[in-house]
Amino acid sequence: MLHPKLIELEESFKPSILIQLFDPLLEQKQIELWIKRDDLIHPVISGNKWRKLKYILDHALSIKADTIVSMGGAYSNHLHALAYVGKQLDLQTVAYIRGERPKKFSSTLSDLERWGMKLRFVSRSDYRELRQYKNHDALPGIKADEYWLPEGGATQLALKGIAEIVSELDGNYDFLCVPCGTGTTMAGLINVCSDDCSVLGFSALKGGVFLADDIEPLLKNNKQNWSIQLDYHFGGFAKSSNELLLFIEHFFNQHGIELEQVYTGKMFYGLFDLIERDYFKKGQKIIAVHTGGLQGKLVK
Ligand SMILES: Cc1ncc(COP(=O)(O)O)c(C=O)c1O
Repeated sequence: MLHPKLIELEESFKPSILIQLFDPLLEQKQIELWIKRDDLIHPVISGNKWRKLKYILDHALSIKADTIVSMGGAYSNHLHALAYVGKQLDLQTVAYIRGERPKKFSSTLSDLERWGMKLRFVSRSDYRELRQYKNHDALPGIKADEYWLPEGGATQLALKGIAEIVSELDGNYDFLCVPCGTGTTMAGLINVCSDDCSVLGFSALKGGVFLADDIEPLLKNNKQNWSIQLDYHFGGFAKSSNELLLFIEHFFNQHGIELEQVYTGKMFYGLFDLIERDYFKKGQKIIAVHTGGLQGKLVK
């Protein structure tokens, strides 16, 4: 059973609703597009963040860890959610941050510090080295009461939480779409998605071919019903363009749904482009997972 502290925390969450999007292009192409609003489940730990962290935190609490140590960039959604949840659960949090300590903190870094996360700024090469440590006790020098969590919370336990997204759906859809950073969220969806459905990932990074190699070892069976779109990265991770920002603004004006430029904006841009190009067949039903991340939204 889930740790009582997590059960209590989860009681404050809102359900992730499924809403249908109406748009002239969808009508013209006769495509049904639904959005799984994981962005609405919590004001801070929203989207795939809570899904990924839930069973990791459960494990950490069950082995009586009192500190979670992780890593990320200066705008990391993962660290943002972790710092907040650490404060809620009375767990210490420590983060290795890529690059030099900036003179002026981003709003993400300010939140991390405000929520009590200890920040250790490391060089890009030291940061890359940290990526090799995958298990919770693998970080050299880690103490018995500390729990190591790799970049983006990419662990097997994260998959268990992600699977709950699929269990909340009725199984009647052709495509499940998700943005990809490490590919962990996508792997969690592929593992439990029925064979009648394809999982379509949208790489937020340039050169995302490596994603397939990272996803494959996380898969339970020899699943083939998935693919990744590699061409909607807009120049690379966290890069954007006027075109993307205008799309995000237009999407909000049309549908009242906020997207950000790192993950969800790129996925919806790509999705609409694919619909326009007749990638999907008439009558198909698509569900796109809104993975949140709105704390990282670029403010114009
Ligand atoms: C908002 C948002 N969407 C999607 C992703 C991609 O998730 P993953 O790293 O599991 O591919 C992330 C990163 O974790 C994220 O913060």
